[in-house]
Amino acid sequence: MALHSFSYYSQLPFIIIIFFFFHGEGGFSPSPEEVGICEAVVRPYGYKCQEFEVTTEDGYILGMQRIPVGRNGVIGGARQPVLLQHGVLMDGMTWLLNSPEQSLAFVLADNGFDVWIGNIRGTRSSNRHVSLTPSDRAYWAWSWDELVENDFPAMVDLVAKQTKQKLHYVGHSLGTLIALASFSEGRLVDKLRSAALLCPIAYLDHMKTKLGILAARLFVGEILSNLLGLAEFNPKGDYLFLECDFTGNNCCLNGSTVQLFLQYEPQPTSTKNMVHLAQTFRDGALTKYNYGVNNIQRYGQSTPPVYNLSNIPNSLPLYLSYGGRDSLSDTEDVEHLLQDLKLHETDQLVLHYVQNFAHADFIMGVSAKQVVYDSMMAFFRQI
Ligand SMILES: *[C@@H]1O[C@H](CO)[C@@H](O)[C@H](O)[C@H]1NC(C)=O
Ligand SMILES: *[C@@H]1O[C@H](CO)[C@@H](O)[C@H](O)[C@H]1NC(C)=O
Repeated sequence: MALHSFSYYSQLPFIIIIFFFFHGEGGFSPSPEEVGICEAVVRPYGYKCQEFEVTTEDGYILGMQRIPVGRNGVIGGARQPVLLQHGVLMDGMTWLLNSPEQSLAFVLADNGFDVWIGNIRGTRSSNRHVSLTPSDRAYWAWSWDELVENDFPAMVDLVAKQTKQKLHYVGHSLGTLIALASFSEGRLVDKLRSAALLCPIAYLDHMKTKLGILAARLFVGEILSNLLGLAEFNPKGDYLFLECDFTGNNCCLNGSTVQLFLQYEPQPTSTKNMVHLAQTFRDGALTKYNYGVNNIQRYGQSTPPVYNLSNIPNSLPLYLSYGGRDSLSDTEDVEHLLQDLKLHETDQLVLHYVQNFAHADFIMGVSAKQVVYDSMMAFFRQI
């Protein structure tokens, strides 16, 4: 299997059915590539929206969108900022695909929050660099370690500076992983009021799909034997490997929203990032990127350093929402994570289990507002 043909439309690289995929017409016009996410997707619904830019320490120029007030435009008091961080192969559009009554970014704005949408390097709003372009191999030389070290702090700092407030954080999937890894190193906890983690992934050892496991192993083997592959992982090739049971059996998706999703996602990421995720999946441990024989040179030790989640500060308010049908953020893996959090102050850790939700329901489910977002906002308000 050639590396460049690994692709899929959801949340990790281990995939099942090969589909010939034509990109549909329709959806928003003009496109978010041409005019930005604010102009293409947010303003048409009558919301104010501002585009921001922040440059990471390693030179990536990240775009962010801000929805400062709700649709009725009333500002009313100090609105607490919330940063939304999407998952892998997605971007900030993730939070905007359903109707304003259903999509988290709009729901938060209409409920009194100052909404900031993050976009990690390589995605449509964040594909520039001070000296590189996405056609340079060096542009793609990063994994989620660099998101922990560079993108996450840059985005949080921008929001903190602009609002002069501490922020709430909402991550989905990879967005939870980079947050947990950051907190375990004590990063950014002083700038956050709380963190809400939807479909938390930290340990991936109980992922259910057998074919997924097989693909992950092949994928890692492929990379280790072919280092030339470490560049862009572009899911917009001719072949899309569409998963069927991979994210789990989503209960509550709207067919029109799925069409939009397929049109706007997936977004490119780096092959090295996918390999790092596959390593987590294969090794059942949360570590920095494993360079094999080069670990010594890189880290001064033969194994990659561990992100020790027991070191997450016990007083950081955490809200974890996870689904009984999510085969990516498997309940057993969530329990493994909870083991690491067993010393967390009990009144600072809210667990919210949704039996019939799978991975995508948390961001695109038509009932996600009632089932998840309302309780998440109640959690934010009581801090
Ligand atoms: C699904 O999406 C379409 C198009 O946005 C919308 O008209 C319809 O009301 C949605 N259905 C549900 C159940 O939300
Ligand atoms: C993680 O940290 C805890 C507490 O600080 C410690 O007891 C444990 O041994 C550490 N685990 C690893 C794998 O380093």
